[in-house]
Formats: sequence, C-alpha cells, structure tokens
Amino acid sequence: MNLHAHFWLWCLGLRPPLSTTMPQELEALVQQARGKARIAEVGVYHAATSRRFRRVMDARGTLVAVDSYYASRAGIPVAYVIARVELAKVRRGRLVFLRTTGALAAETEVVRGLAPFDLVFIDGDHSWNGLHANWGGWSPLVRVGGTIAIHDTTSGDGLRFAEEVIAADSRFLRFQVKDVTTFFRRVV
Ligand SMILES: C[S@@+](CC[C@H](N)C(=O)[O-])C[C@H]1O[C@@H](n2cnc3c(N)ncnc32)[C@H](O)[C@@H]1O
Repeated sequence: MNLHAHFWLWCLGLRPPLSTTMPQELEALVQQARGKARIAEVGVYHAATSRRFRRVMDARGTLVAVDSYYASRAGIPVAYVIARVELAKVRRGRLVFLRTTGALAAETEVVRGLAPFDLVFIDGDHSWNGLHANWGGWSPLVRVGGTIAIHDTTSGDGLRFAEEVIAADSRFLRFQVKDVTTFFRRVV
C-alpha cells in the first residue's frame, strides 16, 4: 500500500501507524522504557515506538522525539503529522519533539539540559556516517547504568559499526539482541 493511501486509512482509524520495529524488539524496548524519566528516540517515523514509550514512562519524565522527516511531493510531511497526532493521544510525561537530525538534536541546549538519559533508541540514519554521528552525539548523554539501543545492527554497516566501534568503547557493554536491535548498557 502506498503511503498516501495508508495516511487516509489512518485518518479514518482503519490503519495503525507504520513501523519497522518488530513486536519482539518493541517489547524489549518498552521494557527498558518502563518507569524511566529521560528517554529519547532518534528516527520516530509514525511514533509507533515513541507512543509506547510515552505510555510506560515516568509520568514526571520527558520523552525526546527526534526525526528529520522530509516533505512528500505534495509538500506535506505525512509521517510527521501522524507522529504528532499519535504522540498527542498519550498524555503522560513531557514531550520534546525536535524536527532535525539526530546529530544536531544531540547538540541542542534542551537535549543537553535533559541529559543524562536512561534510554536512547537510535533508528534514524543507518549508514556508517549516520551511526558515527549519532553515537558520537548521544552516547555521552546516556547515564551510567542506562541503555542505548540501535536498530539495524545485525547486518551491513550497522553490524560493522557495532563490532568495530561500539565493541571497542569501554563505556558500553552489549547485553541483548532482539531481532535487529542491539542493546548496550553504559557501565562507566
Ligand atoms: C525506520 S524509520 C523509524 C521507525 C521508528 N523508530 C519505529 O520504531 O517505528 C526511520 C526514520 O528515521 C528518520 N531519519 C532518517 N535520517 C535521520 C537523521 N539523520 N536524523 C533523524 N531522523 C532521521 C526518517 O525520517 C524516518 O522517519
């Protein structure tokens, strides 16, 4: 189904938001988010994962939702509209929505002021350079004992990045892989 057809069906309540996150990894992410006060997702898309985070997070906490999005040919950023509506349906905690890249978001005052984070889920730019920029920006913002989870790290650039860069980073230990998401815990 094309994305515009999906959009109209979603408007009518006939389709849920789309996601590339599989049920098993979504549940593992939600488990990490439960009761946590500082959560960020980079690469929100339709907010299928962010809205689940919002449902289970600490009611006094903050969810940072980051996505650069792009306008469709008609100029309407459909995924952005869906994400805003889906996130507004869950009134729990505070929401900070940043329409920018993950790397730029990590440099903003609002994000730096909220750090350290309990959970950061990176699912934006999966290229080597994109991973490098997100890891450089977000990994220092995770608290000791906190989690950084990265989608698409079981093959291609993602796997290579996890094995060559993250495995050599003594601040983090890999503790779980669910579907294509790898979970790392900050230990120092
Ligand atoms: C695979 S989707 C995310 C799916 C979502 N995490 C979920 O669980 O449903 C990837 C999203 O990343 C966004 N994106 C791509 N490059 C990005 C970047 N450099 N910074 C932030 N977001 C980016 C895209 O606009 C898209 O919405």
